Amino acid sequence: MTEAREAILLVGGKGTRLRPLTVHTPKPMVPAAGVPFLTHQLARARAAGVEHIVLATSYLAEVFEPYFGDGSSLGLSIEYVTEDEPLGTGGAIRNVASRLTSGPDEPVIVFNGDILTGLDIRALVAAHATSGADVSLHLTRVEDPRAFGLVPTDDTGRVTAFLEKPQTPEEIVTDQINAGAYVFRRSVVDTIPAGRPVSVERETFPGLLASGAHLQGMVDSTYWLDLGTPQAFVRGSADLVLGRAPSPAVPGRCGDRLVLPTASVAADAKLSGGTVVGEGAVIGEGARITGSTVLDGAVVEPGAVVTDSLIGAGARIGSRSVLTGAVIGDGAHVGADNELRDGIRIWCGAVLPDASVRFSSDQ
Ligand code: GDD
Ligand code: MG
Repeated sequence: MTEAREAILLVGGKGTRLRPLTVHTPKPMVPAAGVPFLTHQLARARAAGVEHIVLATSYLAEVFEPYFGDGSSLGLSIEYVTEDEPLGTGGAIRNVASRLTSGPDEPVIVFNGDILTGLDIRALVAAHATSGADVSLHLTRVEDPRAFGLVPTDDTGRVTAFLEKPQTPEEIVTDQINAGAYVFRRSVVDTIPAGRPVSVERETFPGLLASGAHLQGMVDSTYWLDLGTPQAFVRGSADLVLGRAPSPAVPGRCGDRLVLPTASVAADAKLSGGTVVGEGAVIGEGARITGSTVLDGAVVEPGAVVTDSLIGAGARIGSRSVLTGAVIGDGAHVGADNELRDGIRIWCGAVLPDASVRFSSDQ
C-alpha cells in the first residue's frame, strides 16, 4: 500500500502565541493568502491522494464545520471530532481512531494544523512503505531547534531519540526537527491510551522508541514554516501569494499581490511583496503595503505605510500611520500619524488616538 487515503488534522490548539489573531478565530481558520490557512493543507493533502480527513478539534471547534462542511467542495470527505477537554496531540489522534476506515497495516497521515510546507506527501508515504516503519516522520533542519521536537537519526534515517523542546544545551544533539507530519501504521494509533491527555511528542514517540518500535525520519528540505507566531503567519501568507510556498488553494494567480474580488484599492496605492487584501477591504490613495495581510473589511487610509504586518478584519489604520511588524486585532482603530513597530500587538477593538504612539522623533 503506497498511497494513504486517510489523514488526521490536529487543529485543537489555542494558538496563544498568535493572539490577538486567535481571540475569535482558531489558528487554522485565520486567513492566509485569502482563505483560511487550513484550506491550503486540505488541498495539498487532496492533491497527494488523501480522500478522507478527520479534523481533531477543541478550541473554537464550532467554526470548522460550517465552513468546510462535508469537504465535497475540496473533493474530500471531512469528519469532525471535538474534544470536550483538550486531549493533547496524542490524545487527539487516539480520540479519532474510531472514525478511521483503514486496515491495521495501512498508512494514516497525521498533520499538525499550523505547518506551511512544500513536503512531497506521497514521497513520505512511499518511504514509510519501503522502510516498513511503525511511524514515519517528516523532518526538517532549522538553525535554532529549541522551540521544536529534536529528532536525531542514525545513518539509515532510523529515529534514535525524540526530545521535545529541549531545555539544556546537552539535549541539543541535532538540527533535525519534527516538521509536524507523520505516517502511522494504523494499528499503532490504537496503542495510544484513550480517554486522557497524551502528548504524541513527549509520551507516544519516546515510549514507542523505548519499546523498540521502528520510527523512521525523512529529511525533506523544501519550504517549511510553523505559522505559530504573528511574524511567521504574515511571512507564510506572503510566501503563498508569491508562490514560494506551493498550494493549489490560493484564490488567484500567484504574484506580488493578491486582491480579493470585492476589495477596493486606490489607483496609486502600491501593494507588493505578497500582500493580500481581503474581501471588502479598502486601501486609500498613496498607501504603500508590503509583505502584509489585510483581512476582510479592514480599511487602510491614504498615505499609510504598512510592512510585514497583519491588519485584522474590520480594523482601520489612519492616514500616514507607519506599521512595521505589527499585528492589529479585529476591529481595532489606529488613528492617523502613529508609528507601530517590532511585534507590537494592538488588541481586538482597541482604539489608538491620532498621533499617540511613536518609535522615532516626530521632527
Ligand atoms: N485536537 C487537538 N487537541 N489538537 C491539539 C491539541 C489538543 O489538545 N494541542 C495541540 N494541538 C494541535 C495544534 O492545533 C497544532 O496544529 C498541533 O497540534 C501542534 O501543536 P502546537 O501547539 O502548534 O505545537 P508546537 O508548534 O509547539 O510543536 C509541535 O510542532 C513542531 C513543528 O512545528 C511539535 O509537534 C514539535 O515536535 C514540532 O517540532
Ligand atoms: Mg505549532
